Amino acid sequence: MPAIARAQPNIALIKYWGKRDSHRNLPAVGSISVTLADLFTTMRVEFDDALSDDLLIVNACVNEDMLPRIQRCLDNVAGARRHPARIDSESNFPIAAGLASSASAFAALVVAADAAAGMGRDTARLASLAGSASGSAARSLYGGFAELENSGDEIKVNCLCNAADWPLRVVVAITATGPKPLGSTAAMEISRKTSPFYSRWIEQQPQDLTEARNAIAARDFAKLASVAEHNCLKMHSVMWGSRPPIVYWNSVTLECMQAVRELQSQGVAVFFTIDAGPQVKAICEVADESKVRSAFGAIGGVADILASGLGGGASLIDDD
Ligand code: DP6
Repeated sequence: MPAIARAQPNIALIKYWGKRDSHRNLPAVGSISVTLADLFTTMRVEFDDALSDDLLIVNACVNEDMLPRIQRCLDNVAGARRHPARIDSESNFPIAAGLASSASAFAALVVAADAAAGMGRDTARLASLAGSASGSAARSLYGGFAELENSGDEIKVNCLCNAADWPLRVVVAITATGPKPLGSTAAMEISRKTSPFYSRWIEQQPQDLTEARNAIAARDFAKLASVAEHNCLKMHSVMWGSRPPIVYWNSVTLECMQAVRELQSQGVAVFFTIDAGPQVKAICEVADESKVRSAFGAIGGVADILASGLGGGASLIDDD
């Protein structure tokens, strides 16, 4: 039977950057993210012995490039002796542009493939399988604020706070369209091998995680803002110090960061974070969303603005 799942991307506030074991895709650091509500990937998986081979369709186009990674994930979920699969993936936001599309894609993939193969695993097990395919995908199995732990041999995620219990907004400034030059998997390996700041990054992560966990428990926006911006800039410093340097920002990225700083100086509850791409994600209180949108809208180079609340984890949806 075919199965369809939907998953939302998540935005890391305390970043995952670096692997402890690249073969098993175990992260070198813990991380904390928020799962979005309104951007999503819908994934339909059907195992069919009448097919001669696996077929991946992404946003209505056959995709050969992403197929090997998808196949490895399907083998882990349904076993290497599974039937060939047809996989249809659709996202309502730009993919491979630093908007965490691999997180929503692999989270939706494991949920749909598990159901299509009749396995019936629980969320913890599905998160572990999603995380083996793409570390950040493990967090999209959970809604609200999710923490990916860095301990043991299993990828483990906890929900720190449900979406409804701290309803923040995320406003994304698209500063460049088109795919990013270097994927995060390769980029984090370059950082691990060459950045002089990498070891300090790993050492300091537990204290950033504790600070963020405490801020979330206390719903303390200012404390969360401070540690999240610090952690984001530290991750990018690790990248900038790599050889070759990894610089995902453009001049509009910097203008957006400056606009957030300006809003902060006016007392607006907002902070920025940036992942492996040039887009700027501003996290703000609900009442301040329009101010953030106007500030980004006033920057000439911003190609588009997306906004979302916080949402739930990946789930199966009906086939209609
Ligand atoms: C900057 O989860 O894409 O978005 O495990 O190699 O697939 P792989 O990496 P991926 O890395 C995400 C990096 C990040 C930070 C984060 O989401 O925590």
